[in-house]
Amino acid sequence: MLEELETLYQKSLQSLQQADSTAVLETWYRETLGRKGSVQLMTRQIGQIDPADRPAFGKRINQVKTELQAAYDGRLAELKMVELEASLAESALDVTLPGRPLPQGGLHIITQTLRETYRIFGDMGFQIYRSPDVETDAYNFELLNFPPHHPARDMQDTFYTSKPDVILRTHTSAGQIRAMREYYPEPVRVILPGMCYRNEQITTRSSIQFTQVEGLAVGKHISFADLKGTLTEFARRMFGAGRQTRFRASYFPFTEPSAEMDVSCFLCDGAGCPVCKQTGWLEILGCGMVHPTVLHNGGYDPEIYTGFAFGLGPERIAMLKYGIDDIRQFWNNDLRFLQQF
Ligand code: PHE
Repeated sequence: MLEELETLYQKSLQSLQQADSTAVLETWYRETLGRKGSVQLMTRQIGQIDPADRPAFGKRINQVKTELQAAYDGRLAELKMVELEASLAESALDVTLPGRPLPQGGLHIITQTLRETYRIFGDMGFQIYRSPDVETDAYNFELLNFPPHHPARDMQDTFYTSKPDVILRTHTSAGQIRAMREYYPEPVRVILPGMCYRNEQITTRSSIQFTQVEGLAVGKHISFADLKGTLTEFARRMFGAGRQTRFRASYFPFTEPSAEMDVSCFLCDGAGCPVCKQTGWLEILGCGMVHPTVLHNGGYDPEIYTGFAFGLGPERIAMLKYGIDDIRQFWNNDLRFLQQF
């Protein structure tokens, strides 16, 4: 009997080693260590053995069971590993591959320029004031001192709607009156950013729509020196600490006196280069002291209050700052362009 047990043990070990899949291994288990398996059957035969030999046989069969169980556990782990590797090798899913990168968005360069502008004026106490793109002729022209047939209107031909006197604003200056009427009689210190529209000639259609940032300060002791100081500080923070500014006399119906501000060219440092057309200066914005008629239209007594205003173009600032040579790039949606910023 003991001999039979040893033979069974050796045979079982051998077939265990030959099992080459977990499925075969499961069959082996059922046939060997399972409830009706060969080892179990042999256990039941203990009654047929000479009682004197029973303890030795019992002890041995328990050893055999333990050893076969351990061998089975080891082989099972081995086979599971092999099968996992095989399935990884042939299946489409390789969990060790790095993930696919998600396409990443970013802020448009004009949005970035706007935010930088907000930050600089924000530090100087200017709040953002939103006013509508769709305006009335009164806010866009008339209340800003453009009478109906004033020649300055020619420079800003606009888009009309089917409603009389309702137009798309040609400049953010339209919001000046709205801000003053809302703030009166408090001092005003706001910037008004947004889209403007002009009915340009077909050759320059690319710029029928553009961004502006208006600035407006109204109070009791505001002078031209405040205008110069505020805008020079802006130029230095936007273009570099060493920048110089100069103010050239200009004309706008809603400011008096009016000026255009130039900043010393930050590419050649004023020496002259193609970008500044050899002048050493770059034109940045229009500005001036708020015209008494405009103050009055906003509700402020021009005998008591003064103010300054300015208007700048983020597209132009971005073009100068980053060397962009074609304004159409901003609207082309060319990722090669957009991703550079
Ligand atoms: N609104 C003017 C323009 O679009 C710019 C400007 C704003 C000038 C405020 C003076 C004061 O050209």
